[in-house]
Amino acid sequence: MGLDDIKRREATWFLPVVNRLPVALVEGRGSRVVDVDGREYTDLTAGWGVCAIGHCHPTLVDAIRKQAGRLMQTTNLFYTLPQLDLAETLAKLAPAPITRTFFTNSGTEAIEGTLKLAHRATGRRKYASTESSFHGRTLGALQVIGQPKHRDPYRELLPEQVVVPFGDLVAAERAIDEETAAFIVEPVQGEGGVNVAPEGYLRGLRELCTRKGALLILDEIQTGVGRTGRMFALEHDEVVPDILALGKGLGGGFPVAAFLCTEEVAATVKPGDHGGTYVGNPLACAAANAVLEVVQEEKLAERAAKVGARLAGRLRAFAEANPGVTKGVRGRGLLVGLVIADVEAAGTLSRRALDAGVLANVTAGNVLRLFPALNIPEEELFGAVETVLGLLTA
Ligand SMILES: Cc1ncc(COP(=O)(O)O)c(C=O)c1O
Repeated sequence: MGLDDIKRREATWFLPVVNRLPVALVEGRGSRVVDVDGREYTDLTAGWGVCAIGHCHPTLVDAIRKQAGRLMQTTNLFYTLPQLDLAETLAKLAPAPITRTFFTNSGTEAIEGTLKLAHRATGRRKYASTESSFHGRTLGALQVIGQPKHRDPYRELLPEQVVVPFGDLVAAERAIDEETAAFIVEPVQGEGGVNVAPEGYLRGLRELCTRKGALLILDEIQTGVGRTGRMFALEHDEVVPDILALGKGLGGGFPVAAFLCTEEVAATVKPGDHGGTYVGNPLACAAANAVLEVVQEEKLAERAAKVGARLAGRLRAFAEANPGVTKGVRGRGLLVGLVIADVEAAGTLSRRALDAGVLANVTAGNVLRLFPALNIPEEELFGAVETVLGLLTA
């Protein structure tokens, strides 16, 4: 079936809520993907920061295959071992006070869980968050999202928001009052343009929340599982939140996410307060266990730090050599952004990169966001990056 047929079928059957690039992908191996016509691309997006260990890593495929042939689904009325193993592994990887985990099927559901939990733990009903943040698209997540384009179409369904500039502790202090259940923040805003929390910001938020009796929720759905050069981005700032959300890289491509919390927060909920048919199902948890095993065994967080530093260095050299083309480089580990000066050129870059054989993302209007697999071979990474940089100066 050719692309034209595919487009026609989609136009007939799919809810028209997405703008697609004109490619249908059918296969992936490592950091290479193949389209329906057999054309290959280097993937600098890792399936949107998800395929942390590359597409179809053999350990992950094997774990899913084995678990699928054994037990895929039960209900939360029963104990299952993959779920227990995963909860225990996450507790050992997370900072010491964080010990408890609940699983979900997607990042946005994890955020719903964090908000419900913060309400249970504090008895309060307001949340504060940051401008440009992204926390998902369900109604709870839209309540705290800092991007009006996602929130506005559903504004009538949502309560008043308290959103403050990212990095501004004075504004955060004003925003958190005696009704605030939690302040939710990403250590690096991914969708918002690869904005790294300024030095001291997360620690300042920690102190503010503690002082005002609100909880600190870190949304590490994009930054967790090695992406920023540490297992969790919170390690860069040595900050311990009350609640931590994970997703994306956790399943390496299998839909699974999680929210974790301290004993103190966990003690405020009781059976029935939260749940879900599929949450933490054995197949999803077997996938996540395999991903965490690979990330640790292959030291992929450390690799992300090293390769990410080289990548940022190359982008900085490019920015210096082409001062009118870019407006700077930012990021952490293998979550790196190059700010493009010409917004119009940025708008067509993903499409032009595709034609040149590279999957590349531009977010927040003009930020080339590079978030490839943590194990992408360097020659593939830098080859594809040169291709994209070449498009910016062509
Ligand atoms: C920081 C952050 N939070 C939440 C989400 C929502 O996750 P999902 O798309 O799995 O619902 C995303 C997705 O991009 C994200 O980057």
